[in-house]
Amino acid sequence: MCGIVGIVGREGVAGHLVEALRRLEYRGYDSAGVATLEHGRLERRRAEGKLVNLEAKLAQAPLAGAIGIGHTRWATHGRPNETNAHPHATKRLAVVHNGIIENFRELKAELEAAGVRFESQTDTEVVAQLVSHLMDGGLGPVEAVAAALPRLHGAFALGFLFAGGEDLLIGARHGAPLAIGFGEGATYLGSDALALAPFTSELTYLEEGDWAILSRAGAEIRDADGRAVERPRQTIATQAYRIDKGNHRHFMGKEIHEQPEVVGRTLSHYVDLAEGRVVLPEALPFDFGKLNRLYITACGTAYYAGLVARYWFEQIARLPVEIDVASEARYREAPLERDGLTLVISQSGETADTLASLRYAKSQGQHTLCVVNVPTSTIARESSVVMPTLAGPEIGVASTKAFACQLTVLLCLAIAAGRARGTLTAERERALIDALITVPGLMAEALKQEGEIEGLAREVARARDVLYLGRGTSYPMALEGALKLKEISYIHAEGYAAGELKHGPIALIDESVPVIVIAPHDGVFEKTVSNMQEVAARGGRIILIGDAKGAAEHGLDTLATLTMPDLDATVAPLVYALPIQLIAYHTAVFMGKDVDQPRNLAKSVTVE
Ligand code: AGP
Repeated sequence: MCGIVGIVGREGVAGHLVEALRRLEYRGYDSAGVATLEHGRLERRRAEGKLVNLEAKLAQAPLAGAIGIGHTRWATHGRPNETNAHPHATKRLAVVHNGIIENFRELKAELEAAGVRFESQTDTEVVAQLVSHLMDGGLGPVEAVAAALPRLHGAFALGFLFAGGEDLLIGARHGAPLAIGFGEGATYLGSDALALAPFTSELTYLEEGDWAILSRAGAEIRDADGRAVERPRQTIATQAYRIDKGNHRHFMGKEIHEQPEVVGRTLSHYVDLAEGRVVLPEALPFDFGKLNRLYITACGTAYYAGLVARYWFEQIARLPVEIDVASEARYREAPLERDGLTLVISQSGETADTLASLRYAKSQGQHTLCVVNVPTSTIARESSVVMPTLAGPEIGVASTKAFACQLTVLLCLAIAAGRARGTLTAERERALIDALITVPGLMAEALKQEGEIEGLAREVARARDVLYLGRGTSYPMALEGALKLKEISYIHAEGYAAGELKHGPIALIDESVPVIVIAPHDGVFEKTVSNMQEVAARGGRIILIGDAKGAAEHGLDTLATLTMPDLDATVAPLVYALPIQLIAYHTAVFMGKDVDQPRNLAKSVTVE
């Protein structure tokens, strides 16, 4: 994940920028750079590798200036080298960026057609050139940024420095966090509180879509429509710097909102976004093409991620999958063929049942691949292949962002398996990658439904029982939705394959039972509408999580319809995870439950 810093303050700013970047090293990076204004002129120093290389360059060729921006880069578009390192600059401005600009290719083509020449492969340079081009057309810095932002699609945060702009920085947030710090005669921009800790503890976090105009006197914040807005200032207690809740009441709320950013980060670790193809971070000691079957095992939410992945491996790679909860897998003594593959999924990498299943698979001579959020965990150390999720520390007991990152990695693995098994055409692979690249931006869109969901939660909170229904990959999402609700609100909830309704569960239906139906307009949508009709005919109150096409077609009265953005149905689980997480979260908050530490639960179940 990239790190952004900016300072408008006093002479000697370059050293302070590097000090702030050092606080962001935990995010992982492969190059770094700073830019300042020396007597109004933009100057940059950038270096491949760690900050020590950048400091060596600054020692050789110091940078003066009292205003600047800095960046640690996790390569997404283009190699991790100096040319691609941030800040990217034109003669008019320098920019630093965290996240993914999904539509960078078409913007780049448009600018090249207008005669703009690019020096790097990055999506970030497209932002610099776009704003610069608008300024060439006569717009001032603020107007040019205001005109450029709506044209950028994806989940990102940005920082801008302008030639001649001795008292002007601009920051923008769209799906990736950005904080503003307030000091004595200085104002700061940072990806998180930690970066600004050396300078101030007075912070404001930008909200989704906000952008801010910084000067030494302070900051003017505007919303996505350009209206001036006020955002709460807070004092961050020093010990909270490492893991803070940002401007959320609970870690779970913060982690739900981090998903566009962490999915973008995980995606960029598995996909060469410039080439549009999956590039796994580690060589595989087995050949997907030679596997007869894939065995998946995990617990809880991780198990539901595996259930979603079964559809992907079987449909994309035509690879038969067997999957079992680890507490059964460890004792079942399933016959596993030598040199076959077992895939284990675990956020903590310490779950006892999952670890025991991993060890059983190894005892049967299986290759073992783990998808974990803690690369130093026991499961990681004992697996032959580690595929990390880059969700960052997940504090809330109810797993959210780790689940989304697990799905991201699993879909990339299914695509890699399809390529290896020759079941995936180049154009279908390209289409799947393009769909994956849109996910962070679609997640940011889905989060905009939070206000409606908060209102809906009051209805759900009154229920004794709640049913979740889905077909295809929406069936494991129904299971996950039910788990999220019951584990933090303590309301009994069950997930069911929608087609199973008439085989028993329909006896539960009456007006006291909300039925949450997860149904993008995919190949089984009409079948699910039939199930919705069965529910409606018995007075059941339906909450549909669908898309505009489905909402227009079903023709039923629903308690509510949450309309997700249109998308490629393959990636629906990634985006539809957000409303089911938010329903559980706001229901539990409304009921006054301990959302981050629900009763009876532990974040990692390291015992049987
Ligand atoms: C998910 O919200 C739960 N907290 C729980 O089911 C969890 O997914 C399960 O215990 C597995 O944990 P792991 O991913 O760390 O192995």
